[in-house]
Amino acid sequence: MICHSNIKYLYIGKERDIFEEYANRCFEEIIKENLRSKGGMLIAPRAIWLADFLLIVTDKTYTNCLGIAAVNKRSNPYTFRDELYITQIAVKNDYKRLGIGKSMVQELIDNHNCDITCQINDFNTVSQVFFTNLGFEAGSGEDHPYFYRRNYYKSLKKTY
Ligand SMILES: CC(C)(COP(=O)(O)OP(=O)(O)OC[C@H]1O[C@@H](n2cnc3c(N)ncnc32)[C@H](O)[C@@H]1OP(=O)(O)O)[C@@H](O)C(=O)NCCC(=O)NCCS
Repeated sequence: MICHSNIKYLYIGKERDIFEEYANRCFEEIIKENLRSKGGMLIAPRAIWLADFLLIVTDKTYTNCLGIAAVNKRSNPYTFRDELYITQIAVKNDYKRLGIGKSMVQELIDNHNCDITCQINDFNTVSQVFFTNLGFEAGSGEDHPYFYRRNYYKSLKKTY
């Protein structure tokens, strides 16, 4: 398990000059090795450039990028509630199973009081387990079964 004092979180919004630089770095250092064409699970290599912001985990010297979450902010057209949509999340192969992926999602949960959603392909069973263990529920009924949601308002009801 990674020690939290050994990692840093960087939030980089699309409007910042360094967005492109970090997107390029994360693509080279993390996304590329996770592409399906390389035996990984990701099928949309350019998704990070379309994100509203990137949440990046680096080592404590900010030198190496270890994990990335590409996130879009949107208002749900049915509930009118704000939500974060994780379009892509990936951890560098050598750093998997150390809790980095979980810590990125937890960072989003702790700092944004809203629902968090993502879509996971049917073949990506590891990510289905990963998100389910973080309290996400797979879609049902009219929702696509591979659309996962962590319902902030439902958890609030549970809390109070
Ligand atoms: C999904 C992903 C981001 C998880 O990152 P990670 O840092 O390795 O995950 P964590 O170490 O935080 O794991 C948290 C929990 O998820 C589950 N999990 C993670 N990887 C798993 C695996 N390979 N097999 C089974 N369960 C797994 C476990 O329950 C784990 O808890 P545990 O280690 O205490 O058992 C990573 O596997 C990855 O980069 N996958 C490729 C990209 C991808 O498919 N992204 C999702 C679609 S956009």
